[in-house]
Amino acid sequence: MKQASENTPTEHDPVMIGEVLDLLQCKPAGVFVDATLGLGGHALAILERIQPGGLLIGLDRDRETLEKARLRLQPFSGAIRLLHENFKNLPLVLNNSAVGPIDGIVLDLGVSSYQLLSPERGFSFQGEGMLDMRMDRSQRQTAADLVNNLAEDQLAEIIYRYGEERLARRIAAAIVAAREEGPITRASQLAEIVRRAMRVHGHTSIHPATRTFQALRIAVNQELEGLEEFFGEVIPFLKPGGRVVTIAFHSLEDRIVKRAFRSLTGQCVCARPPELCICPREVRAHLVTQHALKASLAEVEANPRSRGARLRCIERV
Ligand SMILES: C[S@@+](CC[C@H](N)C(=O)[O-])C[C@H]1O[C@@H](n2cnc3c(N)ncnc32)[C@H](O)[C@@H]1O
Repeated sequence: MKQASENTPTEHDPVMIGEVLDLLQCKPAGVFVDATLGLGGHALAILERIQPGGLLIGLDRDRETLEKARLRLQPFSGAIRLLHENFKNLPLVLNNSAVGPIDGIVLDLGVSSYQLLSPERGFSFQGEGMLDMRMDRSQRQTAADLVNNLAEDQLAEIIYRYGEERLARRIAAAIVAAREEGPITRASQLAEIVRRAMRVHGHTSIHPATRTFQALRIAVNQELEGLEEFFGEVIPFLKPGGRVVTIAFHSLEDRIVKRAFRSLTGQCVCARPPELCICPREVRAHLVTQHALKASLAEVEANPRSRGARLRCIERV
């Protein structure tokens, strides 16, 4: 397996870290979960605040990332449990561990800069790497499998649904035409096919393939599946007053979080007229943030990745 290039970051600026720490109200002896550990930026800051006596459970579905975080969090090795796990299995993890009710969970969704900037992972259209995009490399299906094997309609549907890309049909047709010449194996190759299909010439501020790459990444990793249910399932594991902080980076994810939070706070999500509403309307949590919080201008300037962040928080009643 190829290693990340020398320029690949081994750290990831934790997005909206001040807001995350304030909202989680970390204190010594606290028990917290970082369900998307990444390179451990949020985890490290939490660990510094929950000692002595605190515990941090960290999950990531990317084994390589997890091992890098383990090294970084080494000074706290007695206070961490790190697991190669999809966060949708967190209820199972908590059921099988004797930790008792927890104080808070942070979920910083999406990919890390480490994954994006590791050319061999194939997440970035700028890379010469293979068109892979698997967060969990023990999973079989890669982005190249989707691009080379799906029917044109299925490709168009993925690009439209997960990339919210208007030109999805045109892009899917261009992919199918290109693969007739030979398999599409490289990220840069796909980026060029998309750029040509969109008839973009010259420089644009956002790469024309951005939405198509996002769509494929979501499809390969089934990123939206189980996200809504996740919140309902983890609430019982929190102490009363325990909090969940979520950072989403695109509107598809943020919409799911918003809907889950509405449901947990006893609001209607079925969109029927009030007399026909079938929602349980059970209040299991309160909204701590009434609207999504965004990164400050200073943070966006220092860390452009934080530009799209939407942070929301709920508290168990
Ligand atoms: C934005 S990064 C987190 C960065 C981290 N907060 C930090 O400060 O270093 C997101 C991480 O979540 C992981 N991830 C995404 N979806 C996941 C899932 N369903 N289960 C577990 N980990 C996931 C990715 O592999 C990635 O490492």
